[in-house]
Amino acid sequence: GNRTFTMIKPDAVAENHTGAIIKMIEEAGFSIVALKKTLLTPERAGEFYTVHKERPFYADLCKYMSSGAIVPMILEKDNAVADFRTLIGATNPANADEGTIRKLFAKSIEANAIHGSDSDENATIEGNFFFSGTEQF
Ligand code: GTP
Ligand code: MG
Repeated sequence: GNRTFTMIKPDAVAENHTGAIIKMIEEAGFSIVALKKTLLTPERAGEFYTVHKERPFYADLCKYMSSGAIVPMILEKDNAVADFRTLIGATNPANADEGTIRKLFAKSIEANAIHGSDSDENATIEGNFFFSGTEQF
């Protein structure tokens, strides 16, 4: 697959790290296919994270993800899903490799600066959640 989906999360947007994160993404060889700044309601955050609805952190996650603006994007690169997850680093920034986006910008396992799709199938589903067909040219 040559596309993935990402969103810069509320903590990183609020702290004005959007530009630095996009610069790292582009310098790693990804091209931006689609990009916007928007806000999730708690209900829409819950819909996005339906896969996690049985996990103990689900309610907190939905509250956090609707606490401020986010910057969703569709990105293009060979091997996009796997290469992007390498670029962002481990979910918990305490375990993230040096030089990864989460090592640099994440504050906690929850407020971890950025999302990256975990499969080609989810990249398509998640991109379609935020962007219409004509926005994904
Ligand atoms: P995403 O790219 O955001 O999907 O992260 P991930 O694939 O590295 O992690 P996962 O899909 O397992 O979890 C989704 C999100 O839930 C994480 O990015 C965190 O924001 C949050 N999260 C995951 N584990 C925990 C946890 O143990 N506690 C809390 N509070 N939040 C968590
Ligand atoms: Mg995930």
